[in-house]
Amino acid sequence: MDLNRFQRKVRHLIALSVFMSILLIMSISFPDGMNSLQVDLPFAIEGGEDYAYQKKEKVQKMWIAEPNKPALMKKDRPISKRSYQEPQENGPRLKKIPSLSLHNRKKKKPEKNIDLTLVTVPSGPPVDYANKCPGMLDDITTAPVGSMPLIALASFPRSGNTWTRMLLQVSSKLSTGSVYWSYEKDNEWTKKAFPASTVDYHLGTGLCVKTHNYVDEEIAEFSDGVILLIRNPYKSLLSEFFREKMFDKKFSFNKTISLLKEFWWDYFPMRSYEWRNFNLAWIQRSKRLLVVFYEDLISNPMHELTRMLVFLRQTPNLHRMQCALMHYAAFAKETSYIKFDPSTPEQHHVLDQYIVEVNQSLIERDAKPLPNYYENS
Ligand SMILES: *[C@@H]1O[C@H](CO)[C@@H](O)[C@H](O)[C@H]1NC(C)=O
Ligand SMILES: *[C@@H]1O[C@H](CO)[C@@H](O)[C@H](O)[C@H]1NC(C)=O
Repeated sequence: MDLNRFQRKVRHLIALSVFMSILLIMSISFPDGMNSLQVDLPFAIEGGEDYAYQKKEKVQKMWIAEPNKPALMKKDRPISKRSYQEPQENGPRLKKIPSLSLHNRKKKKPEKNIDLTLVTVPSGPPVDYANKCPGMLDDITTAPVGSMPLIALASFPRSGNTWTRMLLQVSSKLSTGSVYWSYEKDNEWTKKAFPASTVDYHLGTGLCVKTHNYVDEEIAEFSDGVILLIRNPYKSLLSEFFREKMFDKKFSFNKTISLLKEFWWDYFPMRSYEWRNFNLAWIQRSKRLLVVFYEDLISNPMHELTRMLVFLRQTPNLHRMQCALMHYAAFAKETSYIKFDPSTPEQHHVLDQYIVEVNQSLIERDAKPLPNYYENS
């Protein structure tokens, strides 16, 4: 075991014991429910973005001290240090190589938003799917080092980020990167599906860079802007809960439902506040912003894909876009996991207020406002 690895292990152990002590203290001050919930939380499994998430979840637990009396009710609470910040020793940002100064450009003032709602959508006869598409699905390449601008594809989890990347890749022939590259680089699926995600995104080899993070310094890194992908938070939150329990932890559907009934009271305020902070941070701090709604991407994919490609400074190619949409059509879905609403009226009130806040922030930046069906859904 090399020294670095050893140090990391020691740091993990220290972090874990601090965490466990906090759990102990919390279980004393919150005797009912709290303790068993903490035990239920997934512990870090090395590899994949989930690792970062599980860590994040733990850290967040420590910061939100009173989960059932959310301070989150306060409407105008600013994004502060108290809200979640990625721990320093965690994540790919640390792996930054000092010599990579390619993108250490001077700070620019935020550009006026480029809405691109009036793009010219390419049109014409449909592509010969059988003959042309297989080729167009297999020729995705990683761009030469330093040739691509640093543009983030940022979204709260379960908002269509992966689907959008697949569509963009086939449409442009260029692979997309990921801020989680150091966790994903040895993954066989990533190598095949997202080759640019196997190298440091600072190298500028990806069409855009997937991220679910929202720390200031990372937002600042994306000096060429962000495509902010937003989905109805009620759907994202529920979908994320199911992903964590059913896909990560391999719980049965029934087990997941029972966990949902038991722990939504705690999960919902924490994650909705994160949804708010995530979107406000990117809307207010990004240098150049394009907002895309997941629901629009489903209902009007050609148009939304064109907006994104233009923003990414690519020339929309009708046939490639058609191939992308035909091939990945199955991804476009509004999954409905349950028939009941797990959220209380109070919880709706809180998230609806966040929706209004995010909407306001979009309007202030002349970006597309949120669809009205986000509220009260
Ligand atoms: C899940 O719950 C339903 C309804 O309570 C029940 O009918 C079904 O048998 C359960 N499935 C499993 C696999 O336990
Ligand atoms: C956001 O603001 C716009 C413009 O005022 C409005 O039409 C829309 O309904 C709002 N959306 C939500 C979710 O409140």
